[in-house]
Amino acid sequence: MAMWKFPLMGLLLLLTIIGSPTTAEGPGESANEPVCPVMPKEEDTLNRAFFPKDFLFGTATASYQVEGGVYETNRGRSMWDVYCMKYPNGKRERGVSKDGIRFYHDLIDELNNNGIAPSVTIFHWDIPQILEDEYGGFLSEKIVKDFRDYAEYLFDEFGGKVKNWITINEPWVYAHAGYDVGKKAPGRCSSYVDKEVECLGGSSGNEAYNVTHNLLNAHAEAVEAFRNCEKCKGGKIGIAHCPLWFESYIKDNEVEDEAAKRALEFMLGWHMDPTTTGDYPETMKKIVGKRLPEFTPEQSEKLKGSFDFVGLNYYVSKFPKNLTSDKRDENKPRWLQDSGIEWTEKNEADYAIGSRPDNAMKDMSIYSRGLKSILKHIKDRYGNPEIMIMENGYGDMPHADIDGNVHVTNGTDDPNRKFYLQRHLFSLYEAVCVEKVNVKGYFVWSLLDNFEWQAGYKVRFGLYFVDYKNNLTRHLKKSGEFYRDFLSKGVLDPAKVKNDIPATKTEL
Ligand SMILES: *[C@@H]1O[C@H](CO)[C@@H](O)[C@H](O)[C@H]1NC(C)=O
Ligand SMILES: *[C@@H]1O[C@H](CO)[C@@H](O)[C@H](O)[C@H]1NC(C)=O
Ligand SMILES: *[C@@H]1O[C@H](CO)[C@@H](O)[C@H](O)[C@H]1NC(C)=O
Ligand SMILES: *[C@@H]1O[C@H](CO)[C@@H](O)[C@H](O)[C@H]1NC(C)=O
Repeated sequence: MAMWKFPLMGLLLLLTIIGSPTTAEGPGESANEPVCPVMPKEEDTLNRAFFPKDFLFGTATASYQVEGGVYETNRGRSMWDVYCMKYPNGKRERGVSKDGIRFYHDLIDELNNNGIAPSVTIFHWDIPQILEDEYGGFLSEKIVKDFRDYAEYLFDEFGGKVKNWITINEPWVYAHAGYDVGKKAPGRCSSYVDKEVECLGGSSGNEAYNVTHNLLNAHAEAVEAFRNCEKCKGGKIGIAHCPLWFESYIKDNEVEDEAAKRALEFMLGWHMDPTTTGDYPETMKKIVGKRLPEFTPEQSEKLKGSFDFVGLNYYVSKFPKNLTSDKRDENKPRWLQDSGIEWTEKNEADYAIGSRPDNAMKDMSIYSRGLKSILKHIKDRYGNPEIMIMENGYGDMPHADIDGNVHVTNGTDDPNRKFYLQRHLFSLYEAVCVEKVNVKGYFVWSLLDNFEWQAGYKVRFGLYFVDYKNNLTRHLKKSGEFYRDFLSKGVLDPAKVKNDIPATKTEL
């Protein structure tokens, strides 16, 4: 049996703070209907006490983005190490890393002992390079068995002390960014996709569909293993989707409303539908045709109902504009063209989708209404499943000096992130307590500033600032103080909060 050398390299820990500091009413008898105590008047006064009693709040990180230690102990190289360093590593042997296992046992025990329930993501993109070399990683269906073995190992090792599990983080990003537009490892695409990107081989409009197919089958196998695992009983498992929300480019226009629906089918339905119906959305089958693989009846059966909760990562929204015929070239297939749309920041009437503070990372407009809308969509479209928001957060690029260093004073002064969280928590509140969407938890991305994939260390997402030039010392940001107060003290001074609102434009 092939065991990945460092079996835990994809572990993502979502730290949940257990328990409610309030005496709010508990949930009612009907398990799917959230029960909320009181209605706050505005987002400024919102705090944890307004949410159902059993609601989990936490923060998230991912191993490859925070751990470092690439050369320490006997950790194996991942696809991202090689991708980053641009040269392959030498000889690797199979086997389990005892240091890795001990590291995670210690971490998980420490969290549990401090009243913090860890949630674990099995795969957050950093596939062992040895499997990339051997058979192309998720391009090959051989990954499915290896992934199951790996998941089984984790369940056996940690299933007794970790109750919430995610199989795969953001399959859309993994397939699309890695194999359609080449912006993330392994950087595969066709040269016609984007002049700026150097493709390391690949076939856009083809490979991403195969990769998704294997991701989904791997997911289904892992879920089956989880359900067979004795010590995992009482735990829950899901997959973390990362859809944008789409507002119609022209409301009440048939073509554009249809485009908005299609955009969601391509983005969320692509990975979500197979876990409910056992098949891809009809729209995709019709448009993508032979390039979209087919599930065997057995795979289809395993996929159906292969989650206990829907994991949702939400960041931003877009306008999907129906693609005009002059922008189509059927000989140059790619996922976005297949969906028949282009994404825009402004609608036909020139309204921007949300506010866009100056130091925001690219594409980071603040549109909190999108969170409520996507939650409601999942409730209505997929039969009111349980949902956990596994990621939501704000990426910025604070002022850096000429050497690229960010001073701690500037780095911890992040009113935009605080604003983002405030607005999204309010939107979440409305989804749960007004729309009665069955959301059970919310994790801020991220606990710490970290390695933001192709953006390196320039983009920061943390509630804690990491001083990279000063021994990686950590400093709580304003947004972290806000979240702490939201969770503990609760009530904020509304006047003070108002003054911090930094939006440069009004939300739609
Ligand atoms: C996708 O998978 C199918 C079935 O295994 C295979 O025939 C095809 O060559 C694959 N395409 C790509 C681009 O990998
Ligand atoms: C809108 O996009 C769809 C899907 O690609 C396409 O079939 C349709 O012709 C487009 N409509 C217009 C008016 O361009
Ligand atoms: C903080 O940022 C401002 C610009 O926003 C800059 O002028 C100032 O030099 C920075 N401070 C430090 C200590 O880097
Ligand atoms: C960083 O830590 C090392 C070892 O603990 C210490 O020798 C060094 O002085 C520290 N550097 C700074 C800038 O604090």
